[in-house]
Amino acid sequence: MSDAIEPGKIGSMLPVISRRDFIKGVIVGGAAVSSAGYLFRASTLLAQSGSVAGRLITINVNGQQRRADVMKQETLAWTLRHKLGLTGTKLGCDRAECGSCTVLIDDVPHYACSVLTHTVRNRKILTIEGLANADGTLHPVQQGVVDEQGFQCAFCMPGFIMSSVAFLKANPNPTRAELANGVSGNLCRCQDYDKILTALMRGAENMRNTSHA
Ligand code: FES
Ligand code: FES
Repeated sequence: MSDAIEPGKIGSMLPVISRRDFIKGVIVGGAAVSSAGYLFRASTLLAQSGSVAGRLITINVNGQQRRADVMKQETLAWTLRHKLGLTGTKLGCDRAECGSCTVLIDDVPHYACSVLTHTVRNRKILTIEGLANADGTLHPVQQGVVDEQGFQCAFCMPGFIMSSVAFLKANPNPTRAELANGVSGNLCRCQDYDKILTALMRGAENMRNTSHA
């Protein structure tokens, strides 16, 4: 008797993941993709490019002191993703155009692809992984996205959420147009802007009604 699996049965053997579960996984920290692969790829690339002398530095990420061996030309996006395994920060254009890599540095949004890691040693970096409370309670903006199912493929989602969090802290009660302007440094390749704005407006409402630690 053959051990081959009939193609038709493969789908039924996979765990059933709803769209809501998928979105929630990405919201909490890009968990849809294992960071292990990225870490492995980074070490392979470095090995291929020959020995690269880095410098061991400490940076404050999501409230933790993290040590990383960093090259002088290394960007924060690269360090976060490939050295610290924080793959929730996405790399789209890698040249300060799309906003996918947005993180907060001392509460101000920055494109992590265009910040050199060694320049942020005394700053506080917040990534999508650090937004939820320690008990798992989502940030009100993250909850707004879950409530409204506001993104299509969700690749751009962490960047939009980080930009919104910073904008809403300073402008807690924006009009839709003001919020659109506030996140205009973020692009969505799926062009799902209307749904994204609805979700972010719900996040703004959640922020006004919730006290998030
Ligand atoms: S990846 Fe940084 S702005 Fe596009
Ligand atoms: S939802 Fe796909 S890139 Fe924005």
